Amino acid sequence: MSEPIVVIGSSNTDMVIKMQRLPKPGETLLGGDFIKAAGGKGANQAVAAARLGGEVTFVARVGTDIFGSEAIENFRKDGIDVEHVSVDPVNPSGVALIFVDDNGENCIAVASSANNHLAPTDVGKAGDQIAASKVLLMQLEIPLETVQAAAEIADQNNVTVILNPAPAADLSDELLRSISIITPNETELQLLTGHTVTDAASAEQAARVLQERGVETVIVTMGSQGAFLLSEDLATMIPSKTITAQDTTAAGDAFNGALAYALASGMVIQEAVQFANMTGALSATKLGAQPSMPTLEQLQAFIRLREPTA
Ligand code: RIB
Repeated sequence: MSEPIVVIGSSNTDMVIKMQRLPKPGETLLGGDFIKAAGGKGANQAVAAARLGGEVTFVARVGTDIFGSEAIENFRKDGIDVEHVSVDPVNPSGVALIFVDDNGENCIAVASSANNHLAPTDVGKAGDQIAASKVLLMQLEIPLETVQAAAEIADQNNVTVILNPAPAADLSDELLRSISIITPNETELQLLTGHTVTDAASAEQAARVLQERGVETVIVTMGSQGAFLLSEDLATMIPSKTITAQDTTAAGDAFNGALAYALASGMVIQEAVQFANMTGALSATKLGAQPSMPTLEQLQAFIRLREPTA
């Protein structure tokens, strides 16, 4: 049984083209199939946690357009509380243009629009839900001052704050001190610390820089290598499973949503990271962001298939 989770972040509509390879600057490439899929790092993480069985409130901002109304309808279908998804009367809904190549790698451009107008006042309106939650989960596709305002409310109420620093941005020590768990990938960790990250040893060295600046726990997502966990008493690589990737878009979001769900359900951190690794891996086997988020049953079946047989 999961305790309440609040996710604050972006909602986008993703326009995705499958390509043999990603286009170079100035190049026109004829691609393959096109799909429109629900996306946005915040929304993807909210949906990931909700599909696994989490009790999720999402705080976001969409436009008055069809993309916004479709997004809200989809959140409702996933059982997400949308009381704090506001409709911006001026700015359109966020849109992302995504290319995905034959190896499942991607390239993404985002028009943030309404997401850029999610304000600290919006977060204040959800203050009671944040204070009563077990886990607050955020990313960086919304204004930093909004992230800071929410982290302060959570910090004052002993709520576990997970920050997925994607896309990477300069973060103040004040913000870092109010974060319980930060979850950069290798590139983001490199941008945040100036350290090159390639393996467990370099991940640990860079993660310690963030720990020294005030974050309790650092989890570095490292794709097929797994996730490096640095907490007060642990420094360990938690391996992932090998999969054939169709689309790695939102695999990190699946990881973060699952991590929030796992911690809100009482798993200890190592177990939660293992669970999140499996969710991220499964999501990368499917095309599209929110279409790739598994239910708990789908995840359990995937885990059973990968268990060594006696
Ligand atoms: O993390 C993947 C997401 O990044 C996509 O869904 C896209 O909308 C961008 O926000």
